[in-house]
Amino acid sequence: MEEKNRLIERQREPENLESPHSVFDSFLTPDDLFYVRNHFALPELDVTGWRLRVEGAVTRVREFVYGELMELPSRTVVATLECAGNGRTFLPQKSKGVQWEMGAVGTAEWTGVPLHTVLAEVGLEEEAIEIILEGADSGIEEDPQSPGRIHYARSLPLSKALNSDVLLAYRMNGRELSRAHGFPVRALVPGWYGMASVKWLQQIFISGVPFAGYFQTIEYSRWKAVDGRPSLLPLSGGEVKALITKPQDDETVKTGVNCRICGAAWAGESEVAKVEVSVDGGEHWRPAQLLDPPRRYCWVRWECLWTPAQSGPATLMARATDESGRSQPFKHPKENRHYAIHHVLPVSVRVE
Ligand code: MTE
Repeated sequence: MEEKNRLIERQREPENLESPHSVFDSFLTPDDLFYVRNHFALPELDVTGWRLRVEGAVTRVREFVYGELMELPSRTVVATLECAGNGRTFLPQKSKGVQWEMGAVGTAEWTGVPLHTVLAEVGLEEEAIEIILEGADSGIEEDPQSPGRIHYARSLPLSKALNSDVLLAYRMNGRELSRAHGFPVRALVPGWYGMASVKWLQQIFISGVPFAGYFQTIEYSRWKAVDGRPSLLPLSGGEVKALITKPQDDETVKTGVNCRICGAAWAGESEVAKVEVSVDGGEHWRPAQLLDPPRRYCWVRWECLWTPAQSGPATLMARATDESGRSQPFKHPKENRHYAIHHVLPVSVRVE
């Protein structure tokens, strides 16, 4: 039985921790219950020695100290962060990677300097097309082998990097970032899968060519047809997804008694427009009530009351749709590899 108020260990070294079910009870996730996804050991950083180097295709190379970033105008963005591998245990075949259930997701209020402010300070050269964000953590990846020690790094195209909601964040839910979540400064790329929000930032490199690093190609990529040819492209914006958090699989519910089906739904860069629930394995759907005002980048909690009339097994399903009409598939799309797991997940209950 999972403990209500403790992170669940999915991997010891490096530490990978999943949020317990209770995080879906509140809109904001407290940082000590917020899932932790690390590829390497946590780096030891002391804020006085820490520097953020900004270089590459820039007019002026610069190094920022913590205090300088804090003096720049700040912005606060509320965003749900979901690991691209969240839900991996629900894939039909066991695949590599951390075996997350539902809880590699959380919502927080992030405060920091918009990335574009820092880019304006250094000035971009004309050839700049991507912004590579590099963390201070490093190590050797085994499967497949990395060419020796590599740092965790991901890039953003300029179009996203210049969006004023993309932050170099130093606060989470109003408090200084914790070490596990990227102290002193991390990227926050709202609406994108979590891999883009690089923690423990140490370097921003402005590049004139597309970045093809390990976590951009081998990991965190999916197949997409480009001019008709399947090509591996880096994962970016999040898909639409709804989860049933209660009742849970194998639970027993009672005939003639109100059963509260509830959960959370989110939609990457857009907002959730509606959530529908089925209690008969997908034949009929009824609207769920949204318990939070829908907003861009954020999950909404939802509920639907159901009074089972007959005893026997029942299959519950939930599916969300966003404001542009995107919804969820019923099977995991193969081209997503072991990422972006957002198909409708049935929950089997017994009615007694
Ligand atoms: N940044 C660094 N430097 N190293 C990492 O391993 N993991 C990424 C991202 N940023 C990672 C990183 C992934 S895959 C996710 S899902 C998010 O951080 C998780 O952020 P959290 O640990 O604060 O929840």
